[in-house]
Amino acid sequence: MRALVTGAAGFIGSHLSEALLQRGDQVVAIDNLATGSLRNLSAVRSWPAFRFIQADVCDSQALERLCDPPFDVIFHLAAAVGVRTILDHPLASLNTNLRGTENALAAAAPGSTLIVASTSEVYGKNESGPLSEQADRILGAGELARWWYAVAKMADEALALASHREGKVKALVVRLFNTVGPRQTGRYGMVLPNLVRQALAGEPLTVYGDGEQTRCFTYVEDTVKAMIALAESPASPGLIFNIGQSTEISINALARRVLELTGSRSKIVHVSYQEAYGDSYEDMRRRVPDCSLLERTIGFMPTNRLDEAIRAVAAEIQARGEGECASA
Ligand SMILES: NC(=O)c1ccc[n+]([C@@H]2O[C@H](COP(=O)([O-])OP(=O)(O)OC[C@H]3O[C@@H](n4cnc5c(N)ncnc54)[C@H](O)[C@@H]3O)[C@@H](O)[C@H]2O)c1
Repeated sequence: MRALVTGAAGFIGSHLSEALLQRGDQVVAIDNLATGSLRNLSAVRSWPAFRFIQADVCDSQALERLCDPPFDVIFHLAAAVGVRTILDHPLASLNTNLRGTENALAAAAPGSTLIVASTSEVYGKNESGPLSEQADRILGAGELARWWYAVAKMADEALALASHREGKVKALVVRLFNTVGPRQTGRYGMVLPNLVRQALAGEPLTVYGDGEQTRCFTYVEDTVKAMIALAESPASPGLIFNIGQSTEISINALARRVLELTGSRSKIVHVSYQEAYGDSYEDMRRRVPDCSLLERTIGFMPTNRLDEAIRAVAAEIQARGEGECASA
């Protein structure tokens, strides 16, 4: 395949680019390096089949130029991501997350397959589970900035499906549930890299709320494998797919597991949502995916690889020298 990956210098985009290149695909990668880093692409930057272009997905002309000649597949991952980013820069985040997708869809040729990265956040406060793609989306009050990431991603989904229905491009949507692994940064509010870094540095592990809220964490390798398989499946365009795995773990249990696997003696401390994110924050107690459509379509569904993810994240942080091992 000849593939374009937007947001390629980010956490998931860099793993996706690597996986495509390892299969023998050609990859053009774009990123404005807002939250991503060229360091994430250091393993592949010298590959002849790889080209990196620093560009902004809000620049429609740059995207149009790039898509001539057309790509077989466009993976649109570039986005403003993370609770902290959305709360601190709501307008810029909305701009990137709405205009970037609009531009990617406009630049894509009718014969290209375009995969839009959406999020389990669109299910909002629907805590019934497991959530299939048909589940209701229940968002909080319109003035709460916390939900605007989901609002933009919901609009992205609609743009993608409408473009597909009108024959503009073969578009599909992937709703990613919490994805974890090396290269994810904790700077914008992602829980696992923060907990692992704190454990390795001998600092208290900060858990928000009472910590009994549960999440399902998917190893990035599985997420990427599913995305590539969907890109190749003739049955996937026009549809929405959950990508995740369904083993739940509370954030308290996650913090304890991080302590066990890193050998850290750090304490776990609880911080209120109000203290962490201000008055207008709301969270959901659980969010579990139903990935049966994914399995029926590509014959694969991610499994629970949380321990592997924790070990890999810890190894990466230690290799970068960002955590002093606090083990006994
Ligand atoms: N990590 C998760 O758990 C998760 C869950 C649900 C959905 N997603 C979605 O997956 C995608 C990738 O997320 P990630 O976790 O790798 O985050 P990330 O922040 O590591 O990656 C996003 C990348 O997009 C780039 N970017 C941001 N604005 C841009 C712009 N205007 N032009 C060009 N590049 C721009 C950033 O520099 C970064 O490299 C996003 O669309 C995100 O919404 C991720």
